[in-house]
Amino acid sequence: MTSEQMRKIGFIGGGNMARSLVGGLIQAGHDAAAIHVSDPSAAAREAMGRLGDVQLSGDNDAVVDAVDVLVLAVKPQAMGTVLAPLASRLANRRPLLVSIAAGLTTTALRSWAGPLPLVRCMPNTPALVGAGMSVLYATEAVDAAGREDAETVMRSAGAVLWVEQEAQLDAVTAVSGSGPAYFFHLMEAMIAAGVEQGLDGETSRALVLQTALGAARMAVESGTDPGELRRQVTSPGGTTAAALDAFAKGDLMGLVSRAVTAAAERSVTLAAELDPGAADAPGQG
Ligand SMILES: NC(=O)c1ccc[n+]([C@@H]2O[C@H](COP(=O)([O-])OP(=O)(O)OC[C@H]3O[C@@H](n4cnc5c(N)ncnc54)[C@H](OP(=O)(O)O)[C@@H]3O)[C@@H](O)[C@H]2O)c1
Repeated sequence: MTSEQMRKIGFIGGGNMARSLVGGLIQAGHDAAAIHVSDPSAAAREAMGRLGDVQLSGDNDAVVDAVDVLVLAVKPQAMGTVLAPLASRLANRRPLLVSIAAGLTTTALRSWAGPLPLVRCMPNTPALVGAGMSVLYATEAVDAAGREDAETVMRSAGAVLWVEQEAQLDAVTAVSGSGPAYFFHLMEAMIAAGVEQGLDGETSRALVLQTALGAARMAVESGTDPGELRRQVTSPGGTTAAALDAFAKGDLMGLVSRAVTAAAERSVTLAAELDPGAADAPGQG
């Protein structure tokens, strides 16, 4: 076991996302006994306990006192209530904070937690099956070791990338954060279209899901640009070309652009709604 794996990692909030991160850390060889989780819900603690010999508590103070890295994994709306009473403890202990709460800016987080080294992370739902895309932003106070710690936690649930400007997290939210739902929606549309063409629902679903998995794996594993992969399977005058012509006539590229823009704009307004200081800061949001 490396010294990295021996870092004590705490989670405030032991719900779905924390469970996938803890499960991933244990699978990656992190000592379960060096993981601390607090959650007021006995059911959440029990579910966490089934992953391994994790230190469980109903007391957030105890977790703050025990760890080097503290993952903030409560709902964004609960974060202020959770962090504010911990501020003086956090100032003494000075763990690296890693927030996975959607839409909460580092300014909002620091207004409750104080000026600690802070990594803000935007994960996505496939983290729940170890295939997440987590994008991280570090405040200036985070050093190389802190970045490595945050990466270790998030890598346990899938791929990790960094952005150097916090504002880019709005675009990230619109692409990878909300992105799984776009693919699910395309799957829904393809399953319905298959049924319209005479397949039974179960068959259509099986074809669509395996095709989505296969296409994603080809794009990832080949490293070839998706546009090039599309051209490679599109013979002039063939069946794929007929479908792609219909997509082009419906302006699929423009439609996706408008959808992603709408999500990015909503990310900005949501962040302003969640920021306790935004109401006092004219011109924001
Ligand atoms: N799920 C995703 O795919 C996803 C994707 C991107 C970002 N995120 C972010 O990840 C965070 C967690 O999401 P989630 O889906 O894991 O939510 P979740 O399942 O509701 O987990 C949150 C947990 O925090 C607990 N909690 C509430 N108040 C607390 C307190 N005072 N101290 C300690 N724990 C407390 C909740 O307990 P109770 O149930 O008893 O309230 C719950 O078990 C959110 O901020 C969300 O924005 C999630």
